[in-house]
Amino acid sequence: MGDRPRILEARNVHKTYRFGAVPVEVLRGADLSVHAGEWVAILGSSGSGKSTLLHLLGGLDRPDRGRGEILWRGESISIAPGRRIDRYRNRDVGFVFQFYHLLPELDTLDNVLLPTMVGRWMRPDPAPARSLLESFGLAHRLHHRPAQLSGGERQRAAIARALVRGPQVLLADEPTGNLDAVTGGSILDLLAERHRSGLTIVMVTHDAQVAARADRIVQLRDGQVQA
Ligand SMILES: Nc1ncnc2c1ncn2[C@@H]1O[C@H](COP(=O)(O)OP(=O)(O)OP(=O)(O)O)[C@@H](O)[C@H]1O
Ligand SMILES: [Mg+2]
Repeated sequence: MGDRPRILEARNVHKTYRFGAVPVEVLRGADLSVHAGEWVAILGSSGSGKSTLLHLLGGLDRPDRGRGEILWRGESISIAPGRRIDRYRNRDVGFVFQFYHLLPELDTLDNVLLPTMVGRWMRPDPAPARSLLESFGLAHRLHHRPAQLSGGERQRAAIARALVRGPQVLLADEPTGNLDAVTGGSILDLLAERHRSGLTIVMVTHDAQVAARADRIVQLRDGQVQA
């Protein structure tokens, strides 16, 4: 991987939550370089800051002011204007949240179409979302709502939503976290297939067996990333 360009980097990132009297410094100088085409697993115990780091990588939150940055193809998104970050979030990366975050009122197809509706007046062409869902084995679930889906089906829908705009990087937070081993395995197979066709993946997990599916594992401990 050494010869491939670095696509996404965290450099000396600090993140402190100020909630109540005592500030909690969750990330304390975290560094990570992700190369194009790589599948990286970030392994860490509950509360170690995995979701926090992934949110920063995805531009969903920013590091503490002046204390580290996130670089996308060498360009800092941590100091970029809001519109640049919006484009990064909407186009360059796809995000799979720890607890799916599907909208309960929308059916599967509309949940997946949602990112393609941003900034448009007209309903987008559903064909790409439909064929993505079909390739994920959800052809028969297009018009079900999340509450009518199994956990594995919800996770597939969430991954389809993250991929519908063709991002270069997929950021996945505990993609198998709420699933049994067999269902989780099939989600990982699906990620592996996308990875073989060139998708860069950063996946967060507390499970060493899940992490073993990646090309490279790093540990998040004491607010830092350790090889
Ligand atoms: N918005 C917030 N405000 C205050 N504290 C927060 C916030 N988000 C996270 N934390 C705290 O930061 C720490 C790290 O949280 P984070 O969600 O990043 O951990 P995690 O490694 O993803 O855990 P898990 O494996 O349980 O998902 C925890 O102690 C959590 O309570
Ligand atoms: Mg988490």
